[in-house]
Amino acid sequence: MGALEGIRVLDLTHAHAGPICTMYMAAMGAEVIKIEPPWGEMTRFFPPLINGVSPYFTFINRVKKGVTLNLKSLKGLEVFKKLVKISDVIVENFSPGTMEELGLGWETLKELNPRIIQASISGFGQTGPWANRRSFDPIAQAASGYMWLMKDSIDPDGPPLQAPEAIADTIPGFTALIGILSALINRSKTGKGQMIDVAQMDAMIAVFQSLSFWHLGKTTFSKALSSYGVGVSGCHKAIDGYIMFSLPPGRITEWFKQLLGIEELTWEKVAEWVGKRTVHEVDEILSKSGIPVSPVHDLDQVSTNEQARAREMFVKINHPVLGEITLPGFPIKFSETKGNLSIPAPSLGQHNYDVYKKLLGLTDRDIEELQGEGVI
Ligand SMILES: CC(C)(COP(=O)(O)OP(=O)(O)OC[C@H]1O[C@@H](n2cnc3c(N)ncnc32)[C@H](O)[C@@H]1OP(=O)(O)O)[C@@H](O)C(=O)NCCC(=O)NCCS
Repeated sequence: MGALEGIRVLDLTHAHAGPICTMYMAAMGAEVIKIEPPWGEMTRFFPPLINGVSPYFTFINRVKKGVTLNLKSLKGLEVFKKLVKISDVIVENFSPGTMEELGLGWETLKELNPRIIQASISGFGQTGPWANRRSFDPIAQAASGYMWLMKDSIDPDGPPLQAPEAIADTIPGFTALIGILSALINRSKTGKGQMIDVAQMDAMIAVFQSLSFWHLGKTTFSKALSSYGVGVSGCHKAIDGYIMFSLPPGRITEWFKQLLGIEELTWEKVAEWVGKRTVHEVDEILSKSGIPVSPVHDLDQVSTNEQARAREMFVKINHPVLGEITLPGFPIKFSETKGNLSIPAPSLGQHNYDVYKKLLGLTDRDIEELQGEGVI
């Protein structure tokens, strides 16, 4: 049993920030019903398509049920409202105002079901002068100061730099998840749902430790670290690759100096010591001495790494089109309940019958009619 067993989520999300939030809910046992327009959600078409299947969609929509529903049709709206009455959570990340335009604003939703919790993820929030702007991860990386921080720590005179993974989607998605779980706990005490408004920009600003360094000392975290005398902490070149280790002032640095037999720590001395050894040798020596260290892995190396494997961080999934595929596993290890990311993302409309018949009690004929009219 997952910790969220019994919680039903209507998932209107698209792209990344919303889907990652709802996938985690599904992994923890919630019944997540991903509702797509009959023409399919945008990441289904994200390249490269492998046998017509998008790696992006495959990654981020696992364990969900998938239905199609045209919310711009009256019948589609009717069906959605029926689902609202028997669900716990709605998650959406359309541009602000879209839910209202569909006739599904918060006032309507809470009237349909006072226990419902709605999470809206957007670029800049539902309020404020930038509320109407559309946004993707790079926009939030730029707006939040993250791209400036990247270049400032790597090459202050160079151009702004973008992180290669969609962190300005994932952090907001997880922020929304924290909000939803808290609202569920609150609801268990008050019986009332609530609306949660999470902005990508806000969620990024909220986690930058550099903003404290900046407002208190006009510096950043990475600059503060180097001025703190931890200059030799970093990435060194061994005979056959790169290795990263950290030497904060205190006992870890003392252990390291004893190991090398040196009084004074300099970048050159460390580089010379590492340069005569293989990655494996340095890794063995330093890890055994309690020094924080890891080889710099590429994606093949992390995928075969003994620790990642021991923690079941790569799961094999039987995909109906792609066959056996390997994807990242679930990182929260519960002692009593289960986390599971091993069920493939649904094909378009895969669970239409399951949801509309079993959950809403529609007949085969009703469903065929909705299909014929392009509602599902
Ligand atoms: C991601 C984003 C830029 C995409 O922009 P977009 O493709 O123009 O999508 P929007 O959210 O503005 O609009 C979605 C449209 O699809 C429609 N739609 C969505 N689901 C539907 C359904 N099941 N049935 C019918 N129509 C549907 C909406 O009604 C809306 O129609 P409209 O254009 O007539 O208003 C935008 O949604 C956004 O800024 N989202 C908030 C930030 C965010 O999460 N970004 C993604 C991070 S990965």
